[in-house]
Amino acid sequence: MSNNWDEIDQSAKKWIKEAGTVIRNSFTKQVGIHTKSNPNDLVTDIDREIEQFFIKKINNKYATHYVLGEEGFGNEVKTLNGTVWIIDPIDGTINFVHQQRNFCISIGIYENGVGMIGLIYDVVSDELFHARKGHGAYLNNILLSPLKDTPIHEAIIGINATWVTENWRIDHAILSPIVKDARGTRSYGSAALEMAYVAAGRLDGYITMRLSPWDFAAGIVILNEVGGVVTTVKGEEISFLEENSIFASSSNLHNRMLQKYKLNEG
Ligand code: IPD
Ligand code: CA
Ligand code: CA
Repeated sequence: MSNNWDEIDQSAKKWIKEAGTVIRNSFTKQVGIHTKSNPNDLVTDIDREIEQFFIKKINNKYATHYVLGEEGFGNEVKTLNGTVWIIDPIDGTINFVHQQRNFCISIGIYENGVGMIGLIYDVVSDELFHARKGHGAYLNNILLSPLKDTPIHEAIIGINATWVTENWRIDHAILSPIVKDARGTRSYGSAALEMAYVAAGRLDGYITMRLSPWDFAAGIVILNEVGGVVTTVKGEEISFLEENSIFASSSNLHNRMLQKYKLNEG
């Protein structure tokens, strides 16, 4: 049976708002906080509850769809065949725990590997960044403009200090000149929000060395609709079934930065 994308879009938006209310209501309650791979890799009971909330809704209404969720309650997704919802129930969990702001829910819906819907919801600011393939990208009801061609010295680049100090993923000498060359750098601690900010022109680029599909699946759909380019930091195609580095920006800035910093050699 073929998908009714209008209806899926409406359902996903309704559910993401409902999930937002659940998260906002959790602020006044005691929330269980646990660690995963290391002491700074946090997950809360709310991350788990929200992922399960979406899975229940999706399974009830779209029984043939698959879910790839960060917390592992969805399906074991090994290919992007069929319709796959790629969900990060809370992107920016450290911010959720420590700041109660600067986090979001991120949902990318893909059909046979093609990004059809992207939703990134900043629950606290009530900002929903959303896009449907071929229908443009929006922030709430406002249509987002195509990305501007910003020169590097006027650009604000989203990058985490981890990648411009010694680390084992990239020679920090490659990325650190960006800090001086750009007009400014920022780090918000939520990859999905940072991609949404590139789409909305609040950032001109976003560079990071290690993201999972649920961090970037929605952002790619939204950025595609405003003429953004998303590749690995070396300029290669993104794989949706494993970790990737990510470099998102307008096409011209992307070319200029790849050349200037010789990113493909890093
Ligand atoms: C993390 C955030 C963070 C990024 C990490 C992600 P989480 O997601 O997006 O900004 O630097 O790589 O894992 O764990 O809060 O969902
Ligand atoms: Ca995440
Ligand atoms: Ca998460």
